[in-house]
Amino acid sequence: MLESEYQKRRRPPREARPAPSEPDTFQYAIRPAVEEDLPAILQLYRHYVRNSAVTFDEKPPTLRKFRSQFTHNSKLGFPFLVAESPSGDLLGYARTQLFRDKSAFRHTAESTIYLGPASTGRGLGRALLGALIDACREAGMKEMIAVIADSGAEASLRLHKSLGFTESGRMGKVGFKFGRWIGIVMMQKTLR
Ligand SMILES: CC(C)(COP(=O)(O)OP(=O)(O)OC[C@H]1O[C@@H](n2cnc3c(N)ncnc32)[C@H](O)[C@@H]1OP(=O)(O)O)[C@@H](O)C(=O)NCCC(=O)NCCS
Repeated sequence: MLESEYQKRRRPPREARPAPSEPDTFQYAIRPAVEEDLPAILQLYRHYVRNSAVTFDEKPPTLRKFRSQFTHNSKLGFPFLVAESPSGDLLGYARTQLFRDKSAFRHTAESTIYLGPASTGRGLGRALLGALIDACREAGMKEMIAVIADSGAEASLRLHKSLGFTESGRMGKVGFKFGRWIGIVMMQKTLR
């Protein structure tokens, strides 16, 4: 067999060839959350409360409680951002709150981030958490803390590491959800 014929036959049949890659059309805008966003945010969060152990909540908060937390944290100056599609649908959110409910912790923000399942793994987490870090810096925060489940939250651990958070502590088996024990990893980033 000639070398040129051999090369031709090595090309896989059409059905076995990978589909031509399409340009990624994932578009979003990041902006501060407003009270009108809360029902959609709570709906997104409910999904993770009911179906995952990345949150230690076992029952989603009521909209009323969610709203009062939002008002409280906004008054304290803790940033809360949403990402939305060009048509205005919520794709994800990232928010901060007082790390512990004692006033001397006021320069330390505990952050959380949740994306809708269809919006994960496409770089939005990185963009949204990056924007939250900038917003915390502008708000004069000194430290950011993320408390992350020690199993099942690999994407979150990777994301936080990648944006400069370092592990500052671990506690094993402090949560019990869906019939199993779960620990936490504390990730911390110094802002100034
Ligand atoms: C965690 C979450 C915010 C990450 O956002 P994302 O948009 O999916 O992640 P990105 O595409 O921006 O990728 C960020 C990093 O995580 C990595 N990553 C993404 N998905 C991953 C996965 N399933 N497993 C391991 N690493 C993953 C990426 O490779 C990237 O790493 P790099 O910066 O070193 O290249 C998002 O997946 C999510 O909302 N998950 C469900 C809810 C959740 O776990 N929230 C956090 C609670 S603490």
